[in-house]
Amino acid sequence: MWRGYRERAERTLDSRLPLATETPARLHEAMRYVCLGGGKRLRAMLVYSTGAALGVDASNLDIPACAVELVHSYSLVHDDLPAMDDDSLRRGRPSCHRAYDEATAILVGDGLQTLAFEILATAPMPGIDAPRRAAMLTRLAEASGSRGMVGGQALDLAAAGKQLGIVDLQHMHLMKTGALIRASVALGALGAAAVKPETLASLDNYARCIGLAFQVVDDILDEEGETELLGKMSGADRALNKSTYPAALGLDGARATAHDLHHQALQSLQQIDGDTTELSALANFIVERNH
Ligand code: IPE
Ligand code: IPE
Ligand code: MG
Ligand code: MG
Ligand code: MG
Repeated sequence: MWRGYRERAERTLDSRLPLATETPARLHEAMRYVCLGGGKRLRAMLVYSTGAALGVDASNLDIPACAVELVHSYSLVHDDLPAMDDDSLRRGRPSCHRAYDEATAILVGDGLQTLAFEILATAPMPGIDAPRRAAMLTRLAEASGSRGMVGGQALDLAAAGKQLGIVDLQHMHLMKTGALIRASVALGALGAAAVKPETLASLDNYARCIGLAFQVVDDILDEEGETELLGKMSGADRALNKSTYPAALGLDGARATAHDLHHQALQSLQQIDGDTTELSALANFIVERNH
């Protein structure tokens, strides 16, 4: 079903990341270590599958899919730093600052983020005109910044030790995780030359629902998942007294929220005139996953 999306994403990351032998070799080696060592590539798949629903060939979307995964990988490296979540395990291996050192991990994040925008600005993107390329750059920048992912991370840190009310919790999750997932869908849609505004609105509503559901399920898995399967330490949120859905609503309440969001996401897809099989399968995966 995924038409080799995962492989496309791996291949593009591999070819766009500087070689580990290029100076500064240790930095480049660490950038490759964090990007090429696993990861579900869900955001890349969302870019490709949104494109597929609108008739866009996957080859037109390799660069946006890669750019989103680069920003995501950077966010994980910084998220694991001692000053943030202080996590030692990521994607089944020592996190970047453990495998290398803290200063390298900071620079890896900086290097990955800027590489994402560099390739999105300059790499050949067949079938994508300059205005749509510029729109992709804007969308990814907004989603990544202080009004998106970075802002959500700030709210997450500020909320540690408190229990946020459900409205604030939802807002934080929509920013720290939802923004980049929403941008993934938006970039896929920008691959198409002309999309009806109603279709864009339905896609965005789908993305908002699965983006929030993704973090709700991440919170649930942190409570009840297994470290080995997750590839990151379970119980980390509780240890840091994080504001999470299970902490606010209990595990059953969090599961019910994920279920509702899943339902709303599928309903949004029904409004779309196009083959949304892949997008609905991704929504199913997001709520049913165990890692
Ligand atoms: C983990 O994201 C961080 C969150 C935003 C919850 P993923 O679970 O998609 O991480 P990888 O890319 O598969 O490792
Ligand atoms: C992280 O949320 C969201 C990011 C922007 C990276 P978490 O802190 O819950 O992610 P994990 O559980 O460490 O992957
Ligand atoms: Mg975090
Ligand atoms: Mg974390
Ligand atoms: Mg988590």
